[in-house]
Amino acid sequence: MKTLVLNGPNLNRLGKREPAIYGSQTLADLADLCAKAGEELGLEVDFRQTNHEGELLGWLHEAADGEYPVVLNAAAWTHYSVAVGDACAQLTAPLIEVHLSNVHQREEFRHRSFVSAHAAGVIVGLGFDGYTAALRHIAALRAA
Ligand code: DQA
Repeated sequence: MKTLVLNGPNLNRLGKREPAIYGSQTLADLADLCAKAGEELGLEVDFRQTNHEGELLGWLHEAADGEYPVVLNAAAWTHYSVAVGDACAQLTAPLIEVHLSNVHQREEFRHRSFVSAHAAGVIVGLGFDGYTAALRHIAALRAA
């Protein structure tokens, strides 16, 4: 089953960006991890990142039309984009929201999410493990 793993702005900077918060591994490392997890779980993982909100909206529309499950780290857009929230509302297959850091231990503006209301589950603070946990859950739902 095709599963989209979608990443928002600044996540291409992983490895260089605030390593005390986001760690030293790169987006390419995360993509490899998700690809391996997908192989093990029998999911066709399509891993993408963008710094352009319209591009993410297009990918969410693609997931809505294809009825694809989505693992989404919308990064900063999570906290203020009504448009990303509205696109998430159109999804019919499971959506799992993921954040590398524990946003609830950080600034107050990171506590609000326009994605969570539309998500089957939310995983924060587990770093890269959050993505593999989300993929495992999607595979388990498919098997159920
Ligand atoms: C993030 C948390 C967001 O608050 C932040 O804007 C990001 C990354 C995370 O993965 O921890 O860019 O989504």
